[in-house]
Amino acid sequence: MTATPGGALGDLLNGTAYGKEPLTEGAALLRGFARAEVPRLLAALRDVTDAAPFRHMVTRGGYTMSVAMTSCGTVGWVTDRTGYRYDRVDPATGLSWPPMPEPFRALAARAAAECGFPGFEPDACLVNEYRPGARLSLHQDADELDFTQPIVSVSLGLPAVFLFGGAHRGDRPARLRLESGDVAVWGGPSRLAFHGVEPLSEGIDPLTGSCRINLTFRRAR
Ligand code: SIN
Ligand code: FE2
Repeated sequence: MTATPGGALGDLLNGTAYGKEPLTEGAALLRGFARAEVPRLLAALRDVTDAAPFRHMVTRGGYTMSVAMTSCGTVGWVTDRTGYRYDRVDPATGLSWPPMPEPFRALAARAAAECGFPGFEPDACLVNEYRPGARLSLHQDADELDFTQPIVSVSLGLPAVFLFGGAHRGDRPARLRLESGDVAVWGGPSRLAFHGVEPLSEGIDPLTGSCRINLTFRRAR
């Protein structure tokens, strides 16, 4: 007779084990938290990108971002020469953003609760696509209305070095290697922490190929 071990060993064998690594106050890294769901999340993402394809947006300063982006939810994050904002309409299609897939929403709520933010109901999910060389410079997520709600960030595909700093741009950031299925959450005293992503290294992930996808969940409105 074969039995599936329960408990921590069972979780390890199922790929559902994860470790919680506290970062700064209000912030934590949930390593492997979404590992078992990666294929399901990528399948749901296809519906999003069919309706709202990835695009390289231009910043207020006129710089074309190396990261390609799209959104789902009731509002999406956009940037153009007039600045950054959340908008109900995707400027690339003139249509509403695609709805947030249920597995996205549920995962974000679970991860937030795990880090002390129960009742998280994201209305926006920004989806970033990094190809080798793409990077995101240090910034704060500060275009949302309610800073009592955390940011939940889910990594899929190729690994990346995530920079997680403090409330000031000059605070030296921690360098954290994020792998597929890792989830980072920052809220409370860390809600406005500066963060970024180092240039993506070349590689091949069995599910995403030569890219890294990041989902960031926000309560924007
Ligand atoms: C972001 O700050 O929007 C994304 C961070 C990441 O890709 O890990
Ligand atoms: Fe961000």
